[in-house]
Amino acid sequence: MHKETLQKIAKVLIESTTDYAQLSTAIIQLRELYLKLSEVDLHNDKNRKDIYLSSGKALGTSWAARCVDDVMRTKKFISGVYQAVQTLLDKHPEKTVHILYAGTGPFATLVTPLTTLFSSDQLQFTFLELNTVSYQKVQEVVQQLGIASYVRRIVQCDATTYQIPVDERVDIVLSETMQNALKNEQQVPIIYNLLQQIDYEVILIPELIELQLAGMNAARNRDRILHGSEEPYHEVLGSFFKLDIPSVRTFYDQYQELSDTHVFSNHHFKIPESLRKNFPELYVFTRLCVYQNIEILPSESGLTLPYKLADLNDQQKEIPNISIAYKLGKDPDIQFSFS
Ligand SMILES: C[S@@+](CC[C@H](N)C(=O)[O-])C[C@H]1O[C@@H](n2cnc3c(N)ncnc32)[C@H](O)[C@@H]1O
Repeated sequence: MHKETLQKIAKVLIESTTDYAQLSTAIIQLRELYLKLSEVDLHNDKNRKDIYLSSGKALGTSWAARCVDDVMRTKKFISGVYQAVQTLLDKHPEKTVHILYAGTGPFATLVTPLTTLFSSDQLQFTFLELNTVSYQKVQEVVQQLGIASYVRRIVQCDATTYQIPVDERVDIVLSETMQNALKNEQQVPIIYNLLQQIDYEVILIPELIELQLAGMNAARNRDRILHGSEEPYHEVLGSFFKLDIPSVRTFYDQYQELSDTHVFSNHHFKIPESLRKNFPELYVFTRLCVYQNIEILPSESGLTLPYKLADLNDQQKEIPNISIAYKLGKDPDIQFSFS
């Protein structure tokens, strides 16, 4: 019964075209189903407590549960995982695809619907979750849905230090432990930890997260979102941080040495006069490519909301240059200075 409902929802979520009314109904149904199966009390204070670690914040159960409501995020991540599994099965029809999912929250939101589209011979999971309530609730969801045959193990651990069992092969590393501009949460240390243990071909989801420095005209951006205006609203100066397989493999040594400064390499940009005139507010844009052609566009999700750094109009003197870097630590953040 629940699986039938879940399958209908899954089919709407993975459709390549988007019928917004149908999609938002599917998301509401998914949320209701997860809440019913897990009995998560969103209003209980205990469930609202975030956990603070030396490498950033882990969301409390209620907040992790609510991620499902970020409609385009949930749709595009689930579609991306579906497409990645399908690609691997097309290449090797006899294969069992093993997904290592770090930070499942209470529902393992991004993979649970896929159990209605693939068999447990085709798809297997390892779940990692730090938060005790979320860890217990995800077990409840697995049990209530009768999908234990898909789940190799559920581990309560810190995914920034988790060791993949020796001799185990992972096909897809999946994590959504982030917010816009990769601030506060632990996506970066989690992905660095997991990928450095994998020296063979693997799919990372999201495939690429890129932080870009841009000048924006916020009023035009509002017009674009609310009224579909096509007037240019921003100009990208350049990229200053990437999280994808090639960069993790290139920068792993640098990452190991970051224990004192926590700062990835600084990037320097010249601020052109035209930018100050047309797009005077400096923002960080988060490019989020989930898998292949599935990309979450700017402002389409909370994860891709532009993050404001400064307004050039507020600066007393002319500032022709900016240095900018991504910083790890207990409060992951963007570090920048003008000169
Ligand atoms: C933003 S929520 C996303 C939940 C769910 N994956 C989704 O996409 O809807 C992130 C989850 O990752 C967990 N998490 C964060 N940091 C973690 C870490 N270092 N190790 C294990 N789990 C972590 C949090 O407790 C939270 O449940």
